Amino acid sequence: RVRSEIRDDDQEEAYMTDQELVARAFSMHRFSYAPYSRFPVGAALLCRDGTVFTGCNVENAAFGSTICAERTALLKAVSEGHRDDWTTLAIAGRGQDYCWPCGSCRQMLYEFAPGLTVLVAQRDHSFVKLPLSELLTHGFGPKSLG
Ligand code: THU
Repeated sequence: RVRSEIRDDDQEEAYMTDQELVARAFSMHRFSYAPYSRFPVGAALLCRDGTVFTGCNVENAAFGSTICAERTALLKAVSEGHRDDWTTLAIAGRGQDYCWPCGSCRQMLYEFAPGLTVLVAQRDHSFVKLPLSELLTHGFGPKSLG
């Protein structure tokens, strides 16, 4: 669709379909550094203006220092000035189950985008779509400190 044909409230859909965002997440497997788990993960975070921040998991010989794909994308977005305009995050794994985000990633996503939509994909590229609020119910966020 041509951008000018799109209504404002429908705009993010003009930039990318869910399927395309999942494909972007899968395309990040090529950059994944996962010599220990051999489990590449990719992520793609779509912003309202169409900007996409991608990420992959980056492991470490000190296993606990590993960073997930979702958090790589999150940190790229925040550090580039995008922290309050996220619409959808796609997560792509090669497992037989959906690549559910870990608790730390859910918590960090909740800080900036409690209303985020999440696409969780598995090996055959099929995915489920659900709100972050369902992955992290009664989350603790900035408002909780008020
Ligand atoms: N991992 C992610 O990058 N995202 C997830 O949603 C789940 C787990 C990574 C961390 C580690 O490099 C590997 O997958 C195995 O846990």
